[in-house]
Amino acid sequence: MMKSNQPIGIFDSGVGGLSIWKEIVTLLPNEDTIYLADSRNAPYGQKSKQEIIDLSVKNTEFILEKGCKIIVVACNTATTNAIDYLRENYDVPFIGIEPAIKPAALQTKTNAIGILATQGTLTSELFHNTSAKFAEGITVVEQEGEGLVPLIENGKINSQEIETLLYKYLKPMLDKRIDYLVLGCSHYPFLIPQIKKVIGSNVSIIDSGESVAKQTKAVLTKDGLLNSKTKTPSHQLYSNADVTTLLGVIKDFDRNTTVKYLDF
Ligand code: DGL
Repeated sequence: MMKSNQPIGIFDSGVGGLSIWKEIVTLLPNEDTIYLADSRNAPYGQKSKQEIIDLSVKNTEFILEKGCKIIVVACNTATTNAIDYLRENYDVPFIGIEPAIKPAALQTKTNAIGILATQGTLTSELFHNTSAKFAEGITVVEQEGEGLVPLIENGKINSQEIETLLYKYLKPMLDKRIDYLVLGCSHYPFLIPQIKKVIGSNVSIIDSGESVAKQTKAVLTKDGLLNSKTKTPSHQLYSNADVTTLLGVIKDFDRNTTVKYLDF
């Protein structure tokens, strides 16, 4: 039996899910959180489905040991490849994140949208099904963001290498006249300023962080698990790699946060 004062657990292949963690902490200011960055095993994007399931199981076990009441899979690659397995095998609510094709497909005026995501997400059955369901008759320009996650994990968010890759990946989308760009990887919101430099102001960016936070709130509310206490919440962030990048990503987000390196 879960209790409302237990923390929310969140995991990703690395620091990317902190883009979602920030949304959750902002929307749910009374909640304690446990964040797990499996950076040593990043990127997940080019691993097999079975490898992604195995890593997601390891992360889930860790989070459950910390006594979390709900688990947010803050990784599109892990959600699209492993969330069905997790839901079948663990008795805790899971919230996932997947590329927001639906709102992009509903709003496009040029009838063309771009999706930047990992190979693991773009080749998943869940992504194919969502795309077939919501983007019928729309040109969906799919692009794998190969190389972006390792650069972000290495703290090279503001590097020339990132700019070069973004130009290479996004320019062909502009040639196809996309008017919406879906960020299908939780690491990519950290690149929004650089992405904007390439796509300009005529293309809108859609990422799913805020809607994942809203969905987390909705499920906690439905299950009677929202924390109503008013004490300062605590946020424990764990990484199994050098924590420098993680600290950099949260440095302007001043919360009651503890960051720990852990060998897991
Ligand atoms: N942040 C992840 C995602 O949302 C995974 C990136 C990776 O490890 O390749 O897909």
